[in-house]
Amino acid sequence: MIYPIVVYGDPVLKRKAKDIEKGSIDVKELSEDMFETMKAAHGIGLAAPQVGKSLRMFIVDGRPLEEDDMMDFVKVFINAEIVDESGDEWNFEEGCLSIPGIREPISRRPKIRIKYFDENWEEHEDEYDGMKARIIQHEYDHIEGTLFTDHLSPFKKRLLKGKLTNISKGKCDADYRIKAPLKSR
Ligand code: NI
Repeated sequence: MIYPIVVYGDPVLKRKAKDIEKGSIDVKELSEDMFETMKAAHGIGLAAPQVGKSLRMFIVDGRPLEEDDMMDFVKVFINAEIVDESGDEWNFEEGCLSIPGIREPISRRPKIRIKYFDENWEEHEDEYDGMKARIIQHEYDHIEGTLFTDHLSPFKKRLLKGKLTNISKGKCDADYRIKAPLKSR
């Protein structure tokens, strides 16, 4: 099932998402639906709040980046907790399926250690660096109620205000189905 993607301005994107209790929902089904939704939107990561669910779950799929080390980077992260971030911050231009049409350089640390459960409820503690770490940090932000635009300077935010307001009204170009909070019907 393909969900519409919730866009900027919806309160679900600003809420700190809740842990999933094992057995309370079918995490396999939700992850399959999220992969289908992300694929249709040509994304490389998607978090549950972006499909309207305030749950600590996100998925990643690095294959569209067409880099050798990304071919097996297809994963589900449940109840994730970043336990360490290290290294000197680096800038990279990020985008977000919930903020169509805007890309901005965001500064993040290059190395992370993360604890999480996979879709079979097996527990992991892994280290990631570079682009993989960045994708995870961006999605992890979503379950913490943070958007990449929250990392921008007040000046930059002011410059983008009009565009962001338009997105929340559904006035934006996205080649996938969106759910805009202020769209008049
Ligand atoms: Ni995003």
